[in-house]
Amino acid sequence: MKVILTGSLGNISKPLTKELVEKGHRVTVISSNPEKQKEIEALGAIAAIGTLEDVDFLVSTFTGADAAYCMVPPNNYFDQKLDLIAYYCRLGNNYAQAIKQSGIQRVVNLSSIGAHLDKGSGILLGAHNVEKILNELSPDVAITHLRPTSFYYNLW
Ligand SMILES: NC(=O)c1ccc[n+]([C@@H]2O[C@H](COP(=O)([O-])OP(=O)(O)OC[C@H]3O[C@@H](n4cnc5c(N)ncnc54)[C@H](OP(=O)(O)O)[C@@H]3O)[C@@H](O)[C@H]2O)c1
Repeated sequence: MKVILTGSLGNISKPLTKELVEKGHRVTVISSNPEKQKEIEALGAIAAIGTLEDVDFLVSTFTGADAAYCMVPPNNYFDQKLDLIAYYCRLGNNYAQAIKQSGIQRVVNLSSIGAHLDKGSGILLGAHNVEKILNELSPDVAITHLRPTSFYYNLW
C-alpha cells in the first residue's frame, strides 16, 4: 500500500515508518524540516517536506495514496498567545480538505483519551473537535480514531 505518515520521525511515526517499510509498504513521511530528508530516506521511506498548515501541500502529498496516518503535533504549550483549540481545529480542517480533495479512502487519526467529551475535558477538546471534523467527511472514507491514554516516551 501507499501510506502517508504525518508526525515526521517522531515518537510514533519513526517506529511506524520502520515497521511499514519492513512489511513492504511504500511509505511517505511528512516533515517540516528539510534536514530530516536524509534520515527519512535512510529508513527506506520517501520524504515529503512541508507544513501541515499548507493545505495544497497536503493535497498533493495525499493524492494517489491508499491510506494516511494523521496526527496533530504538540505545539508550544508555554506560549500564552497560543489558542490550542483553534490550532487543533485548523489542522483538523486542513486534513479534512486534503482527504476530500485527494480522494484518499483510508485514514487513521491519532486522537486522545477523552475525545468523546464535548466539554469539561480541558485541552482534550482539541482532539474531540478533530474527530468531529473528520466524521463529517463522506462515509466512503474509512476513518479509525485512535484514543490512547497518556503515554511515556522515556520507557522505550
Ligand atoms: N503523550 C500523550 O500522552 C498523548 C496522549 C494522547 C494523544 N497524544 C497525541 O500524540 C501527539 C504526539 O505524537 P508524537 O509523540 O508521535 O509526536 P512528536 O514525536 O512530537 O512528533 C511530531 C513531529 O511532527 C513534526 N511537525 C511539527 N509541526 C509540524 C508542522 N506544522 N508540519 C509538519 N510537521 C510538523 C515535527 O517534526 P519535524 O520537525 O521533522 O517537522 C515533530 O517532531 C500529541 O500531539 C497528541 O496529539 C499524546
